[in-house]
Amino acid sequence: QSEFITLDPGYKNTGATKSAITYLDGENGILHYRGYPIEQLAEKCLFLEVAYLLIYGELPTKQELESFRAEIKEQTLIHEDMKNFFAGFPSQSHPMGQLSCLVGALSAFYPESLNPNATKEEDNKTMINLLAKMPTIVSWIHKKSIGHPIVYPKKDLNYVENFMNMLFSDVTAESSFDPAIISAMQKLLILHADHEQNCSTSTVRMVGSSNANLYASIASGINALWGPLHGGANQAVIEMLEAIKEDGGDADKYLAKAKDKNDPFRLMGFGHRVYKNFDPRAKIIKKACDDILEKLGIDDPVLDIAIRLEEAALNDQYFIDRKLYPNVDFYSGIIYRALNFKPEMFTVLFALGRLPGWIAQWKEMRENKEPIGRPRQVYTGETKRDVVDIEKR
Ligand code: SDX
Repeated sequence: QSEFITLDPGYKNTGATKSAITYLDGENGILHYRGYPIEQLAEKCLFLEVAYLLIYGELPTKQELESFRAEIKEQTLIHEDMKNFFAGFPSQSHPMGQLSCLVGALSAFYPESLNPNATKEEDNKTMINLLAKMPTIVSWIHKKSIGHPIVYPKKDLNYVENFMNMLFSDVTAESSFDPAIISAMQKLLILHADHEQNCSTSTVRMVGSSNANLYASIASGINALWGPLHGGANQAVIEMLEAIKEDGGDADKYLAKAKDKNDPFRLMGFGHRVYKNFDPRAKIIKKACDDILEKLGIDDPVLDIAIRLEEAALNDQYFIDRKLYPNVDFYSGIIYRALNFKPEMFTVLFALGRLPGWIAQWKEMRENKEPIGRPRQVYTGETKRDVVDIEKR
């Protein structure tokens, strides 16, 4: 190998791009979207305001939010032919597989999105179209997962209320529309909205850097998020907590498994590539978790196990040495479960929250005219050798 290539597996020390969207300070557990602390955004804003902030760079005025809302409300319906896709999935297909397929399929109905030389206005229409349709697609996937009929979007409801209406209006008493439930969903979506160059966002940028259309780029991000080491961890956390509960609730046994190098088991919902301190999102979600369970009058035994697991890990040298703290996925699944989502739906909800961040990062990458992503490698294979005819091999 003549040229000098620096090897950086997992890009732990590689800055892939410049970005003005999200600021992360892993040592001090700080997270800002466009300069605003996540704690303030989660407390004071609607998810749609934060989506606007991430994509356009500023919090919207009342008028800007209203016209943003109006543009989105025009696009919430998906083409009736998309029902053929839903019908084609076996009943227990994983919702994340359905989501990436359905989002990728949108280009079939909106071929203008395939134009690699689209103007900024045309790209913006495609972004609005996807933002508008995602809650409809996600809620219809949820309905399929429980074998219930779909509920159509309603124009007189705002973004999160409309989402909750499509999910629950026909099966649950008013509790799902309790303002506390709506505000918890707003918070959860805001807390997932962006996270600088994480695995799925880097995937969206990589795919978009080849001038692939927005739907294809986002569908790729959805697939990257699916992995249990990334967004899929919120489903894996609940499955882990359930397994501990089934196994007599012995948290210490699972802590020992997580520390055993010969055991592939990891404490799901713990650890982070950047945060070497508490994930600020986990703190807010844990508080929302307590509030929601109290509001719904749910005493979920896995919450007690989660709290015991957290306490034990935070006092265990193995976790202290490796600066492993609960991350965004540790408590979010407990809230989703309290809202009667199946565990397979949890990462789909993560994707709905992350969508504005993916869109903002794809837009920034395009505006900055970033080159096509094409990393190098250090070759470790065979030196040159000649082919031997098959008769002599
Ligand atoms: C998300 O990047 C983002 O921003 C992602 C995200 C976002 O908003 O986009 O924040 C969302 O993906 C959160 C992470 C969700 N994943 C999990 O909860 C899965 C469990 N966590 C891990 O697999 C792990 O912590 C990662 C994947 C999150 C981070 O992996 P790294 O940075 O590659 O760290 P590593 O695997 O090199 O681990 C360092 C050490 C190792 O021990 P040693 O070899 O040094 O002895 O810490 C250990 C690991 O074995 N370790 C764990 C552990 N996580 C790391 N040991 C037990 N349980 C764990 N969860």
